[in-house]
Amino acid sequence: MRPFEYHNPVRIVFGAGAFKRLGDAAAAIGAHALVVSYADEPELTKIVQRGVQQLADSGLRVTPFFQVQPNPEVQMVQRGVQAARDNGVDCVIGIGGGSVMDTAKAIAAGVEYRGGDLWNMVNSRHDRQQVVPPETALPTLMVPTLAATGSEMNNCAVLSHRERGEKSYIWSDCLFPRTAILDPRLTYTLPRLQTACGGVDTISHVMEIYLNGQDQTDLLHAWQEGLMRTVIENLPTALADPRDRQAREELMWCATCAINGWASPGDPWTPMHQIGHVLTARHQVNHATSLALVMPAWMDFFKTAKPERYFRFARRVMHVDPHRRTREQIIDEGLEAFRQFIEQAGLPTRLSQVGIARDQLDPILEDVRRISFNARGQLASNPPVTEQQLMTILEKAL
Ligand SMILES: [Fe+2]
Repeated sequence: MRPFEYHNPVRIVFGAGAFKRLGDAAAAIGAHALVVSYADEPELTKIVQRGVQQLADSGLRVTPFFQVQPNPEVQMVQRGVQAARDNGVDCVIGIGGGSVMDTAKAIAAGVEYRGGDLWNMVNSRHDRQQVVPPETALPTLMVPTLAATGSEMNNCAVLSHRERGEKSYIWSDCLFPRTAILDPRLTYTLPRLQTACGGVDTISHVMEIYLNGQDQTDLLHAWQEGLMRTVIENLPTALADPRDRQAREELMWCATCAINGWASPGDPWTPMHQIGHVLTARHQVNHATSLALVMPAWMDFFKTAKPERYFRFARRVMHVDPHRRTREQIIDEGLEAFRQFIEQAGLPTRLSQVGIARDQLDPILEDVRRISFNARGQLASNPPVTEQQLMTILEKAL
């Protein structure tokens, strides 16, 4: 295993009914909360209203900021920072999915930011010299209503910049939430597509590391396989019966554990996400769909470079029967089963299905190169990916 340091201070309150503890948990971090949520989500509005009532019952003042859109833009975050400053809040509470939680984090850091334009906080970018990471932030509390991004238990946020056409990361230890309340019941009313997207995003967070990270680590690979397998087994159940409590519990805890650092110590790379972010920024496909479009092609390209890993994936995650099959056939069946899993969940797996054609690949490649390639002209991964290889992967994805 690679050497690593690990630190995660987030207090987790997990379980069906845990949402009732919002008031007490919030009172422990502040007295006046900016409550961050989406602009237009009718089902979520009921949950947010319950949350606001609990906060009031616990004696907190509440300033609402219900302006979040998917793929939150830095300009919107700036409005949230202004609302937080104008009203003198002392904590930020996010109730919603990844976009809400990332916005809440960015606002909390933005209120105390002294580095100029908020976009200067973004770490992952080609003009790295301009980065001024945030060092302090208001305390935050997260209530995820979707099992997906894992933002509730990590120190990252993803922001977009419309004029630049970029979507990228802030990370800083000041972004760790103080508390996350994980109540699987809050996911019972999710639309089917959002449930599916959450499951696929969760798998991608683990798969990134499983396929593209370090090689010598039995425990991590077993942990990663268990996370992916649990999502693959429980997502169809949740899609068939949205109120299946156990399936919702499994999906929610998997999403958190997939990207809180436990599955990835020593492995900082998420190359498939780098491609996905460009697809989202350029073609407005949602986050999970962007990954569904990249993963099968990426796997098909690298299966011969890392046959042992792909063999393990086919056997231990996709349960391919090895009887009378060559190793190559087992690997291919595993990849095909994974593609079918994504499609049965309702997401496309080919760029052509979302209207992206061959003549649109060059700008995609150019953006990945500009935003995410390292000084050696490669996309960091194991093995690293060259420009030419990336084009081959994109062509496979058509
Ligand atoms: Fe993701």
